[in-house]
Amino acid sequence: MNAVVIQAYGSPGVFTELAVDVPVITDTQVLIEIYATTASSADQLVRSGAFKQVVQVRFPHVLGVEVAGIVRAAGVNVSQLKVGDRVMGLARAGGGYADFAALEESGAVVIPPELSFQEAAALPASALTAWQSLFQYGKLHSRQRILIHAGAGGVGHLAVQLAKQHGAYVIATARTTNHEFVRQLGADEVIDHTTTDFAEAAGDVDIVLDMVRDTAVDADTGIGLTERKNTLILRDNGRLISLVDPSIATHPKVRGIEARFAYIEPNRNDLTSIIQLVQENKLKVHVDESFPFTAHGIAAAHTHYETRPFRGKLVIVRQQE
Ligand SMILES: NC(=O)c1ccc[n+]([C@@H]2O[C@H](COP(=O)([O-])OP(=O)(O)OC[C@H]3O[C@@H](n4cnc5c(N)ncnc54)[C@H](OP(=O)(O)O)[C@@H]3O)[C@@H](O)[C@H]2O)c1
Repeated sequence: MNAVVIQAYGSPGVFTELAVDVPVITDTQVLIEIYATTASSADQLVRSGAFKQVVQVRFPHVLGVEVAGIVRAAGVNVSQLKVGDRVMGLARAGGGYADFAALEESGAVVIPPELSFQEAAALPASALTAWQSLFQYGKLHSRQRILIHAGAGGVGHLAVQLAKQHGAYVIATARTTNHEFVRQLGADEVIDHTTTDFAEAAGDVDIVLDMVRDTAVDADTGIGLTERKNTLILRDNGRLISLVDPSIATHPKVRGIEARFAYIEPNRNDLTSIIQLVQENKLKVHVDESFPFTAHGIAAAHTHYETRPFRGKLVIVRQQE
């Protein structure tokens, strides 16, 4: 089969096309013919080498953690999915930048008819991240005040909708050109992080969902400026959920604030709940732009990811329905 691989860490120009073997599925996996995938933050971090201490890969490596396509084969223990199903899922180890990918049944669900493959590919990792951060780690209640950083991004634009649906008062950060977009998603207030100090503008909050990589980190404590500001605005016994700092729970506890790193797991039940909200028109994924499934197209998607502002998700389309 054809795959778009990386043979080394590097810039978006590192992608090349290569003939590789079709993945051999285990008893609990399905083989998916890929229709669409994405350029996600996880793909960018692995490709560039920024994650090489965290995620070990063997070259040639196939990226693409979010996949949507059609089941072409199923392992003997697969019970909920069958050959011919349109499915979407999270392939944590990658594999989506190829004609076929193996996917654990536990991380995949049937795509509802109202979603295209492009929209379906844009959901699994970002929506699971938003869902598990808010409800599993954040234990969000209605009427709580939540600050969601990066409210126009892949995770953020879904988190804003989910938090609002849940009855929270939602404050988000985004650059001014994205304010109308984030308000339409349901944010009650939007703060421009490029011009305004969120710690001065947000007021007290019960929960912060942080996905901003801190650049100014104190060498002795490992605590960054954004984390310090997050703590300042959190109420006593509030919750600070970080998507970017795995060490956050080891930092000294302040005023009973529970600081947790959210480590996202593939989960069929969560994906099913997400799909239900999509079908009820309560959750909408935003595809900013689509790119062709070639080494050049995927390089263009990754270049766009790194150099130009965008809203929601960047999708790579292998074939139309
Ligand atoms: N722990 C996990 O399992 C997990 C899972 C998924 C993602 N993540 C991490 O979570 C982060 C977000 O992921 P994503 O996929 O949503 O990324 P994304 O789609 O690339 O979103 C990035 C957004 O960040 C905003 N931004 C940039 N600098 C900012 C700042 N200083 N303050 C506030 N917003 C800022 C930008 O919005 P504007 O254009 O409006 O400025 C942009 O829309 C990434 O770092 C990713 O690695 C972790």
